[in-house]
Amino acid sequence: MSDDLLLQVDGLDGGYGRSQALFGVSLRVPRRGAIAVLGRNGAGKSTLLKTLFGELPPMAGAIRLDGAGIEGEPAERRVRRGIGYVPQEHAIFAKLTVRENLLLGCVRQPDRSGLDYVLDFFPKLAQRLPQTAGTLSGGERKMLAIGRAVLGRPRLLMLDEPTEGVWVGVIEEIAERLKQLSREMAVILVEQHIELALEVAGYAYVMDRGHVALEGAAAPVKADPKLMHHLAP
Ligand SMILES: Nc1ncnc2c1ncn2[C@@H]1O[C@H](COP(=O)(O)OP(=O)(O)OP(=O)(O)O)[C@@H](O)[C@H]1O
Ligand SMILES: [Mg+2]
Repeated sequence: MSDDLLLQVDGLDGGYGRSQALFGVSLRVPRRGAIAVLGRNGAGKSTLLKTLFGELPPMAGAIRLDGAGIEGEPAERRVRRGIGYVPQEHAIFAKLTVRENLLLGCVRQPDRSGLDYVLDFFPKLAQRLPQTAGTLSGGERKMLAIGRAVLGRPRLLMLDEPTEGVWVGVIEEIAERLKQLSREMAVILVEQHIELALEVAGYAYVMDRGHVALEGAAAPVKADPKLMHHLAP
């Protein structure tokens, strides 16, 4: 495995019980920078992240983080190895305050020193610390979920649709923060906003019916006529 690769996935099959949703997915994630995972609704993007995180067991294939096979490990172990995950749904605890949600992210870092960093990173959260998370706007919820994952000091941050349900005026702010994060760590970005994803990520995988149908550097993928074919409903 090359030194600049953090995650290497080979021939991953996965799904729900007997219902298979991933078929032979292979991907490479470098230590720095973002890779995008694109695909229409139901293509298998969330299933891929759930399987990489350990929420779903793989049916076949290898997941290597820094060369170590982690495909049999539970999610807590993967978190301790440095995988951060912001799921598409239920990423925050609505009844807890913003502060409490953030402190839950401090698992790998007992001194809580990252809190100031995250509040500088998303200043909107600083004004909302005592508020219950359920009262936040869509954009603020996403910021909170990302902030909490960042507090775990991940080496690999996996984000499942971080701009879904976010007002258009805030999307660019989130995109800027994702660019900043991807200079410091490895990022897997699942997105429906193709423009945004290909602006943040240097490399893209396009999934279609559980397979990787197209992959390559962001610019050629963006220009590839097959892209729209794989994304069209
Ligand atoms: N809990 C589940 N049980 C059974 N099948 C599921 C479950 N969740 C998803 N699936 C199926 O797995 C396939 C892939 O779904 P997945 O959620 O990974 O798609 P996605 O690319 O994330 O879509 P979206 O863009 O809508 O979020 C779909 O056929 C879906 O119906
Ligand atoms: Mg999804």
